Amino acid sequence: MSVIDEVKQKTDIVDVASQYTTLTKSGRNFKAICPFHSEKHPSFFIYPEQQSWHCFGACNTGGDVFSLIMKKEGLDFGEVLRHTAEIAGVTLPSRAGQATDKEKNDRLYRINELSADYFHQLLLTSPSAEKTRSYITRRGISNQSVNAFNLGYSPNSWDSLRQYLMERDYTEAELITAGLIIEVESAASHDRFRNRLMFPINDAKGRTIGFGARVLDDSMPKYTNSPDTPLFYKSSCLYGIDLAREAIRQQDMAVIVEGYMDVIAAHDNGFGNVIASMGTAIADRQVSNLKKLSKNIVLALDADTAGEEAALRGIIFENSLGAEVKVAILPKGRDPDDVIRESKDTWQSLINEAIPVMDYTFDRVTAGLDLNTARDKSLAVDRLLPIISQMNDLIRKSHYFQKLARLADITPNQLQMIFKNKAAERNHGKSFNKGNKVAAAPSHNILTSNPREEYYLSLLLQHPELKTLSSSIMPEYFENSENREIFNAYLSTENISSLKETLDDFIREHLDSLVAKSLPDKNLEGRLSDCILLLKKESLNLCVLLEKKMKLRIFLSTLLRPGLNLDYIL
Ligand code: GTP
Ligand code: MN
Repeated sequence: MSVIDEVKQKTDIVDVASQYTTLTKSGRNFKAICPFHSEKHPSFFIYPEQQSWHCFGACNTGGDVFSLIMKKEGLDFGEVLRHTAEIAGVTLPSRAGQATDKEKNDRLYRINELSADYFHQLLLTSPSAEKTRSYITRRGISNQSVNAFNLGYSPNSWDSLRQYLMERDYTEAELITAGLIIEVESAASHDRFRNRLMFPINDAKGRTIGFGARVLDDSMPKYTNSPDTPLFYKSSCLYGIDLAREAIRQQDMAVIVEGYMDVIAAHDNGFGNVIASMGTAIADRQVSNLKKLSKNIVLALDADTAGEEAALRGIIFENSLGAEVKVAILPKGRDPDDVIRESKDTWQSLINEAIPVMDYTFDRVTAGLDLNTARDKSLAVDRLLPIISQMNDLIRKSHYFQKLARLADITPNQLQMIFKNKAAERNHGKSFNKGNKVAAAPSHNILTSNPREEYYLSLLLQHPELKTLSSSIMPEYFENSENREIFNAYLSTENISSLKETLDDFIREHLDSLVAKSLPDKNLEGRLSDCILLLKKESLNLCVLLEKKMKLRIFLSTLLRPGLNLDYIL
């Protein structure tokens, strides 16, 4: 069994999905409001036996547990694999070239340091950085911050950094590993960052491990970041942590914002305990690094995105932190940079008035409800109970349990009964994210491979000439994340060796097995088109099912009295 399969075996999709939405039992499966879009009727399904999910609504797509987390957290395959492996207690074998060889890593640190200094000097002195300097002034960034954050300018050139470092005896391969240059098939490799304002990203010890780079106009994408490298995993870094650590320790509080610019604005204005998650959903690992400095964390959340999802994540942090997380909600449409530069007092009071994430969740959930009605009391219980049940801290858990009982106007004992019934209904093992404990192997018998998908991919990989016949196949047709990743990457690469370069180490193993699969050598085109037909048919079956359900829903709703919940019938 491959290590990917082992991680999948130990990760239960029901546990994972229940962190993103509230699942209700539907036969052998579960259904829920889709966590990816807003909808009134549940069209998101979890199939425990296959360990797969599908949204029959606006997404009209599905997959396995990895694609669910990838889509929800905006992470790539490797990040999800490493994260889930950690939670499942599976040790990923370290690979050659990865963070095992101290000497190699030391050279990578040095490359990053040299690059940061190179960009910084250009920013300070180069005539070509004039526009960047005036941009910095326009954004109100002080000289002190330019120096403290070692901001820089990457010149508008395809190879100046490449040349600079190669003259200092670093190899092209090392520069590629460091994420600073990009390898191109059948052309010279080139600098990744060109004509941008550079933000070196440092670890807690102040060593530069990666870069964020901003365009100077409105073009997209606004930021380019270093890819994951042996030194840099975006989901475990916090921008500004090296500069903020003392202030965090002294004030015994860390404030987490989203952006580079937000951190700089904060530090410029005397709020030295501010760090950024760099736009990704804050990950467990970031929190566990922080808790050595302080256990008081305030998340400064955007008014638009600060939903129940943020709250749920807050609970997850609380569990790994072993302390309460607070949230400060920003005024609509403003980010911390705007708020701080407009008024330090406003920012200070926002932080002072931050409320515990669970109280905030209660407010959010009950805001649209009328708790005088039985229906809304029941809704509040349905939505809050699963969140409370994720809490590890017994005292806080019991506090919110009682708060919910009061809201629903029932006794804590009655609520306890509801909780037990629901738990029995679910009857599942350990939660996906309860700290970093080793998860018990769930009882599900997971389908670790999908023979049809794999047969098709093997054909395509072993016979690249068939690629042109596959234009009608979409990545979404693949349920298995590894297969989907390989197919996706194969579409944009020319051969297997460049395909290997773009894939995560652990998927390469899977790729190797596909390439090595023995296949009949006759009638390849016929076999391929059979596969295509079957893959499409499978996807089509789901669509037909969806359409039938929709029609039935419309038909029934014309017959039945308004307000009747059709979900009980369909
Ligand atoms: P300004 O718009 O210049 O004020 O930057 P900001 O730091 O406020 O960025 P914003 O609030 O738009 O986004 C927050 C963070 O998300 C950024 O600091 C980046 O880390 C990240 N981010 C934003 N846009 C992109 C993007 O297009 N690509 C990537 N990879 N990351 C982004
Ligand atoms: Mn901003």
